[in-house]
Amino acid sequence: MASSAAWLFFLCSLLLFSLSSFSSAATSRPHALLLPVTKDAATLEYLTRVRQRTPSVDVTLVVDLGGRFLWVDCDSGFVSSTRRHIPCDSPQCAISNSGMCGDNVCGLLPGNPFIETSTGGSLESDVLSVLSTDGYTSGPLVTASSFLFTCAPTFLLRGLAKGAKGMAGLGRNKVGVPSLLSSAFHLPRKFAICLPSYAGTGAIFFGDGPYKFLGTYNPDVAQYLAYTPLFVNPVSTAGASFGNEKSAEYFIGVRAIRVGEKAVPVDAKLLAIGKDGVGGTKISTVTPYTTLHTSIYKAVVGAFASALAGVPQVPPLAPFGLCFEAAKLGSTRVGPAVPAVNLVLQGEGVNWTMWGANTMVAAGAGGKALCLGFVDGGTKPTTSIVIGGYQLEDNLLQFDLRRSRLGFSSSLLFYQTTCSNFNFTSTSRLL
Ligand SMILES: *[C@@H]1O[C@H](CO)[C@@H](O)[C@H](O)[C@H]1NC(C)=O
Ligand SMILES: *[C@@H]1O[C@H](CO)[C@@H](O)[C@H](O)[C@H]1NC(C)=O
Repeated sequence: MASSAAWLFFLCSLLLFSLSSFSSAATSRPHALLLPVTKDAATLEYLTRVRQRTPSVDVTLVVDLGGRFLWVDCDSGFVSSTRRHIPCDSPQCAISNSGMCGDNVCGLLPGNPFIETSTGGSLESDVLSVLSTDGYTSGPLVTASSFLFTCAPTFLLRGLAKGAKGMAGLGRNKVGVPSLLSSAFHLPRKFAICLPSYAGTGAIFFGDGPYKFLGTYNPDVAQYLAYTPLFVNPVSTAGASFGNEKSAEYFIGVRAIRVGEKAVPVDAKLLAIGKDGVGGTKISTVTPYTTLHTSIYKAVVGAFASALAGVPQVPPLAPFGLCFEAAKLGSTRVGPAVPAVNLVLQGEGVNWTMWGANTMVAAGAGGKALCLGFVDGGTKPTTSIVIGGYQLEDNLLQFDLRRSRLGFSSSLLFYQTTCSNFNFTSTSRLL
């Protein structure tokens, strides 16, 4: 009995498998694509998952918004009959910004920002599958037959969350995941990230919206976006790069910072990107908390402390420098009741408002302290303001590569939903 039941199960799985591969082929022109995102509590890294190789396996990757390409460890356990080397004289190598060639294999420089290490790796291609979506719910897996990625040695995994086999670079270049997915599936060159704030599953969308999240009003977040230009930093900000490479990271123009209604004094020079690539503001998913040049950090902390002068402080808990007694702060729909931190951006009346849910971090035993979630980046950071993961959670950010602009929603809590409320159906693979 048991063994015939097992056989039946096996046959059903085969049938399901062939049905799903048939539907993948049939939907090779999806409306948009979808990646699930989770947060690793131990490392504060954001993880996603794709299917790769033949036979296909799930590959967990750390999301690196400004990373230049997808890289994986090819030295341990990489088995695939569809893996291909990319020769140096190929068009794929030409678009990759490669500056080295060995044994006629196109060479790139994969990096790991957590251990500040870069190394040499080869550009390769293999089969890659991701979920499709109509913006309302997750659809079937769709497959690209030769998706470019870089092979790295196993030691480059050090510092990545448990189970991660590489990093998914969503950077602004031709071999970044967004450009490759857009060209493989004929999608608009746009993507949107919505990072989860707790043990839920957020989403990354490639192509156009809608971005429907379940909640009281099931909002399409696309309608709430405000827009500001994206800037190109002419100097690479990667750990290692070939000469004349631009930065693949996403920079925006912060013109001023306000805490509550009060302007915080900031040296304007720090807010501009210099010819040497130093200065300015970028967005990062590999920096857990917004990190500010010391002078900006001190000004923001000072303004915040005086705005909350009546609230008892507790000794600061590293890496934070300003903490309050949690019980003495009220709460609102958008987190602890504290003054908003406002980034005044390029564009008429465009503000990125960060509310308590994105500025205050529960810390200390039992979360008895609430700390301002900004970190001192020292007096000589390459980038003056690095907007980190905690400040992005439950916000939807749309990167439009063609128009070079960022659309941002501010907190989805205002619309009574969160990034963890996308309708991933129970049949979704990769969850
Ligand atoms: C931007 O912030 C300033 C100061 O906080 C405020 O006066 C202005 O109305 C804001 N604009 C928008 C569009 O929110
Ligand atoms: C989620 O999507 C599935 C599949 O499209 C649908 O049947 C279900 O009703 C959706 N759930 C909600 C709460 O809208």
